Amino acid sequence: MKQQFTLNSKQHSNENVSLHVAIIMDGNGRWAQQRGRPRFWGHRQGAEVVKKIVEIAPDYGISTLTLYAFSSDNWKRPQQEVNLLMQLLQRKLQTETKNSIKNGVRMSFIGRRDRLDPRLVAEMEKAEQETAHGQKLHLRLAVDYSAREVLARAAQLAAEQNDFSRERFDEYLAKAMHCPVVTPDVDLLIRTGGEQRLSDFLLWECAYAEFYFTNVMWPDFDEDELARAIAVFHSRERRFGAIPQMQVSFG
Ligand code: FPP
Repeated sequence: MKQQFTLNSKQHSNENVSLHVAIIMDGNGRWAQQRGRPRFWGHRQGAEVVKKIVEIAPDYGISTLTLYAFSSDNWKRPQQEVNLLMQLLQRKLQTETKNSIKNGVRMSFIGRRDRLDPRLVAEMEKAEQETAHGQKLHLRLAVDYSAREVLARAAQLAAEQNDFSRERFDEYLAKAMHCPVVTPDVDLLIRTGGEQRLSDFLLWECAYAEFYFTNVMWPDFDEDELARAIAVFHSRERRFGAIPQMQVSFG
């Protein structure tokens, strides 16, 4: 039975929070196979869930949402699955860019672009330009993304400039992954599908992230599941290495 949480989206928006939530959307393939359907059916359903979660994210105080759509290691999958995923992404971009403009969603794509079909890259860049003024939510889709590769490229940029300061490193990191702005660290990392690992996702940005793992497969992830994850996040005490104020004593 699902656990009930008393906090709802309205209460969260009253808290005036501005969260960066990152999601590893795992379990599409297993979800489909459990239903006797091809794996791609799960990805298609997963894309519908993306649409819904993007729509409701601002109601939960989320101002930046980073979704792991395709990792650099996903190239190892069968060619047919890779092709279908890329086609799905391209189709969704064509249909969803208008909605994003209307809903104030700024879209960015983080990851490598040199190995993607140039038609997909053109579609991505068009979406980035047309949604650039969106203020309600910054939606970052990680495509051909590897955190370790991004970190190595950022380090290379730092070496070229001979500037290893922390502030500048955040800028190099953004540049290395084609992100137009320096993005705040991840507050909450959600992974669906039962696995409990980072899989080369946002290794730097998750330094102080709270982790929320659920057995729910991504195609079954819905508003209740998001509300639960956000409520758990708000129930955690984040100390960032310090100690709680009331425990400070010098006696
Ligand atoms: C992991 O499930 C999911 C992916 C590798 C792709 C995620 C893509 C989508 C949710 C759909 C398209 C996205 C957008 C942004 C339109 P898996 O295949 O590894 O599942 P498994 O662990 O059950 O095999």
